[in-house]
Amino acid sequence: MGRSFAQIAFTPLVKEEQTKHGSRFQYERMQKLSNPGDTLTEYEREFILSRDSFYLATVSETGWPYIQHRGGEPGFLHVIDDRTLGFADYRGNRQYISLGNLEHDDRVALFLMDYPSRTRLKILGRAEIHEGASAQKWIEDLSEPKVRKLVERAIVIRVEAFDWNCQQHITPRFTEEQVVEVVAPLRERLARLEEENKRLEAKLARLSVAG
Ligand SMILES: Cc1cc2nc3c(=O)[nH]c(=O)nc-3n(C[C@H](O)[C@H](O)[C@H](O)COP(=O)(O)O)c2cc1C
Repeated sequence: MGRSFAQIAFTPLVKEEQTKHGSRFQYERMQKLSNPGDTLTEYEREFILSRDSFYLATVSETGWPYIQHRGGEPGFLHVIDDRTLGFADYRGNRQYISLGNLEHDDRVALFLMDYPSRTRLKILGRAEIHEGASAQKWIEDLSEPKVRKLVERAIVIRVEAFDWNCQQHITPRFTEEQVVEVVAPLRERLARLEEENKRLEAKLARLSVAG
């Protein structure tokens, strides 16, 4: 865990709970010894660029936490540099809940899951909304070439901290594409066996006619 993540996430009440439950000493030590952890390394970059979805948490002006799923082709969440992420915001159901929340508070939490490897990454940052004529460059840079939907705005996230979590309690799940790839050799083997079975049945039929 990077120091920046602990500085943000370990609020006074969180620290009180850690003290009450006996983990404060360990985390204080970890916090002191750790590196800042506010710049993405090649490892985070690769992980982020291979995601086809993430969850975006915002906070409303009435204090409610809110989470929305964002999805696209791998790479739709761009790593602009080691402290900056960005994605194109397409026209959707036009509820604009995340957008409204960001008007009030630019802080976001991103939750990225890789189910096959049971890995998760949490990112904390501040979101900038780029809309209108002045946002054209951002919109061009962040739009996915294959997607033919109206990009309403670009959302740029300035990363302040991140943390990886352990693999516990994550059930491995696979996309349809990943399943197709894994079962392809089995399908081929099945097809070969079916052919062989047909040939053997025909041979058997010929033998029983001859007999
Ligand atoms: C027609 C349509 C297309 C959508 N396309 C996407 C999409 O490509 N990626 C995505 O993350 N969400 C997509 N969504 C979901 C929304 O854009 C959703 O409105 C957006 O995430 C904002 O949600 P919020 O108001 O809860 O913040 C789509 C929704 C609709 C109705």
